[in-house]
Amino acid sequence: MEYLEINGKAKLGGEIEVHGAKNSVLPILAGAVLIRGTSVIHNCPDLSDVRVTLEILKHLGAKVEKERRTLIVDASNITENSIPEVMMKEMRSSIIFLGALVSRTGKACLFLPGGCDIGLRPIDLHLKALERLGYKLSFDGRNICCEKGKVKGSRIVLPFESVGATENAILSSVFLDGTTTIINAAREPEIEDLANFLNSAGADIKGASTSVIVINGTNSLSSTEHTVIPDRIEASTYMSLAAITKSELYIKNVNHIHLAPVVPPFYEMGCALFAYENALKIKAPKKLRRVKLIQTRAYPGFPTDSQAMLMAALTVANGSSLIEENIFENRFRHASELMKFGADISVQSKIAVVHGVNSLHSTKAECTDLRGGAAVVIEALAAEGKSHITNIHHIDRGYEKIEKSLSSIGAEIKRIKNEEEC
Ligand code: UD1
Repeated sequence: MEYLEINGKAKLGGEIEVHGAKNSVLPILAGAVLIRGTSVIHNCPDLSDVRVTLEILKHLGAKVEKERRTLIVDASNITENSIPEVMMKEMRSSIIFLGALVSRTGKACLFLPGGCDIGLRPIDLHLKALERLGYKLSFDGRNICCEKGKVKGSRIVLPFESVGATENAILSSVFLDGTTTIINAAREPEIEDLANFLNSAGADIKGASTSVIVINGTNSLSSTEHTVIPDRIEASTYMSLAAITKSELYIKNVNHIHLAPVVPPFYEMGCALFAYENALKIKAPKKLRRVKLIQTRAYPGFPTDSQAMLMAALTVANGSSLIEENIFENRFRHASELMKFGADISVQSKIAVVHGVNSLHSTKAECTDLRGGAAVVIEALAAEGKSHITNIHHIDRGYEKIEKSLSSIGAEIKRIKNEEEC
């Protein structure tokens, strides 16, 4: 069992580099299954979610090589069309393989993570999109299977702009006869990145980054090379870190357009932001101002994935801030962990009220989930004294060696292996 030991209040400053986007690299690696050849994918972060995805690819028959930040996936031979429980349980987003695998092999069977507890609801939009294209679906209580029926390009109307459902709809329609139109598609930059990757291999996908995506079917895709976009959520994590620790940070490898929806609350808190080519400098004031109301929305709204870290910053702002979480139910679990540091937060349904406090103290806290974990880490960095953060496997899903990145800007943070609990 590993945990992070953080000595808060160290002076932070200097340059920190953002890695490639987790939420791009995962669907792009699934998309590599469509290519009868080699995908050379640059700027890939070394994350546990990426490692799980590579295991899935190897299980399916692809050959995978890694050269520093470049992954080389040779999917010339795909020999399996099912993904077992042990791999699916690791990562819910592996549902993205359903569209990719059925496109490539004509049949795909995936264990449903969480089984009956979660049921089919959280992927209902994915399944409806596949059915609309003519795929036949069956569920035996554990595995969801998808087979080619009389498939052809069609019009898919998403009732909600789901990122994953949009990606599955793209992956499952690339080879279909005719034209597929996805109406009310999600507009997240990671979807455009997936489309750019597939187009570079010969696909014909237009309109990704808008709410109407048009896919004209092609017969095959061929070897390609692609560079993953920077992770806007990781960048926003460092912005919240600068804000809560009253620091000046120079954040390298950012895309200003993708980051734009994150910026307004930082101005409202009184931070000064300076844009450079592919970089951003943020300078926090001595005392942060409150944010009147921040509402999470699908892109180009404020991202739900940045909400927990912004909440952490607001715990030391002057006055009370309101956060409305509109994408996920129950995405305030980090609030009770932040309160262990002395934060004053009340949560009711999808609204959190954050009353700023003057100081935070060290404590033992745990990561409730990936972004909640990042929030707890930055809270600890602003708290007086030594804190212990457990359940850090959540953080490793989305941040590459977080202790190394944060140490490079002056943070006193160590990863400790607790031998007794091993
Ligand atoms: C992706 C991101 C995740 C981010 C989220 C919203 C990846 C790997 N993950 O997740 O980091 O927080 O977008 O920006 O890219 N829903 C349904 N039925 C469905 C699909 C979704 O009810 O079939 C609901 C979900 O339960 C959730 C909401 O829609 O409440 C948003 O989900 P979605 O946009 O699909 O998120 P993901 O693709 O899972």
